[in-house]
Amino acid sequence: MYMLEYGSVYGADNTDARLVKIEYHTGNRGPTAKAGIPDPAGAAWHSKVFLTSEQSSPQFDEIAGEAPLKVSFASSNSKDLDDDDLLTYEWTFDEKSKSAEANPSFTFKTPGVFPVILTVSDKSGASDVDTVLVKVGNTKPVVEIATADNKSFYWDNKPFRYTVKVVDKEDGIIDPKKVVVTFDYSKDGTMPAPNDAIARPKLLQAPEPIPAGYAKILSSDCKACHTIDKKSVGPTYTAISERYKNNTDAVAILSKKVIAGGGGNWGTEHVMSAHPQLSIDEVTEMVNFIMAITDVKSKKSALPLKGSVSLSSHKQDEAGIYTLTAAYTDTNPNGATLLTDSEMIKLRSAKMRPIDADAHVGIDRWGNAFGSAKNKSYIFLRNVDMTGIKGLTYEYGAEKRGGEIVVRLESLGGPIISKAAFTPTGSEDKHQTLTAKFDKSLSGRHHVYIIFQNGEKTMDDLCKLWTFSFNE
Ligand code: HEC
Repeated sequence: MYMLEYGSVYGADNTDARLVKIEYHTGNRGPTAKAGIPDPAGAAWHSKVFLTSEQSSPQFDEIAGEAPLKVSFASSNSKDLDDDDLLTYEWTFDEKSKSAEANPSFTFKTPGVFPVILTVSDKSGASDVDTVLVKVGNTKPVVEIATADNKSFYWDNKPFRYTVKVVDKEDGIIDPKKVVVTFDYSKDGTMPAPNDAIARPKLLQAPEPIPAGYAKILSSDCKACHTIDKKSVGPTYTAISERYKNNTDAVAILSKKVIAGGGGNWGTEHVMSAHPQLSIDEVTEMVNFIMAITDVKSKKSALPLKGSVSLSSHKQDEAGIYTLTAAYTDTNPNGATLLTDSEMIKLRSAKMRPIDADAHVGIDRWGNAFGSAKNKSYIFLRNVDMTGIKGLTYEYGAEKRGGEIVVRLESLGGPIISKAAFTPTGSEDKHQTLTAKFDKSLSGRHHVYIIFQNGEKTMDDLCKLWTFSFNE
């Protein structure tokens, strides 16, 4: 059976348009090949990147390095749905070199870009192929944002001082003008409009949260007629943003138009359908996103390689995020392709709401707080820079039981860095603050577990946590 898919947007050359062939096989099901390059940097890579559980043993689909380059390959993510099938592997490294091992390694001696092909076949001869890219000749630049300040949190009225360091073997001396340093504040903790100036290496970055206004657009019907930069039935969001950027009433005018629908401003061929089902607030958020595409005020500003940024855009109790990013693309490909590296530092408020934690176990969510903590329940924060952090302050409420809040690093069985006893406040909704100092000074990134416990075995409803703050 063949299926012709039109793609997601009317009247555009859709990049996701495709012809799909659906085959029905009786008996044997063929294998699915997945070639990968196991993480060469090991733990160093893990500490730099925010990993999700599915990525716990990441494999790259691309690698770069100077010649000679020895690369290990893995076929372990290949699959065959018939679990009693016997798979054979064939790797093709270049015209002359092949291997029949499942996980071979190979040394590339000459510069160039080599597609390495994995063919996986089963007993009945069904097969599938996958490719990874090896770029030999050029080493990847290394971009680092060095600072003596804390890399995870901001406190009121405290600047962030930084020095961007770039090393590239082939380039040698780095032209500071080619290092792109940008700084940004986002009120709701999401990223600003897509910025392609900074090419991000594949797989190395966790997906960014998308801006709230854009998320609304994506979940509405807008996408059937508009895209950010490709003309469709309606004008592109970039063109809309460009046309109205000097009009101070643009957001109000355009929001009304989206709800009412209509035509005439961009030609007479098409009109926009009305959107009476959307509220003015929702549409305003969408239009704000559109206008931000060319808004000079919200554009990230270019910064020097060494400097200090003031963290003064946030208002009290706003859980916004500052991001400082440095990126560099090298200039001497040396027989391979140009390579980019970047580092991004995200600073969040040192006073956190429990819902901003990375995970919570055994404790229920109540709005932005966590309540009815069971004995040994905990909240978890991943890769927190503990440099300069001296302790934690909790805002809690506890009805009739006391207990203690224990902080451990790395794992639930890891070293204890603080213990604070809390006493009942009469009600979970009656706040009290409790400050715990750490026993010793800490540095570097750590996984942090904040555990609520009570010596007696099966105590539930220990307390409710409203906020917690990392203290300098
Ligand atoms: C059926 C197709 C269609 C859909 C769905 C659609 N639009 Fe439009 N949109 C258009 C067309 C056509 C125009 C140009 C109208 C004109 O010429 O005045 C337009 C214009 C606009 C404009 C500029 C208006 C102006 O007067 O310059 C904005 C802003 C806009 N759309 C936003 C949205 C948003 C947000 C959504 C989703 C809620 C949406 N559109 C859904 C077709 C559509």
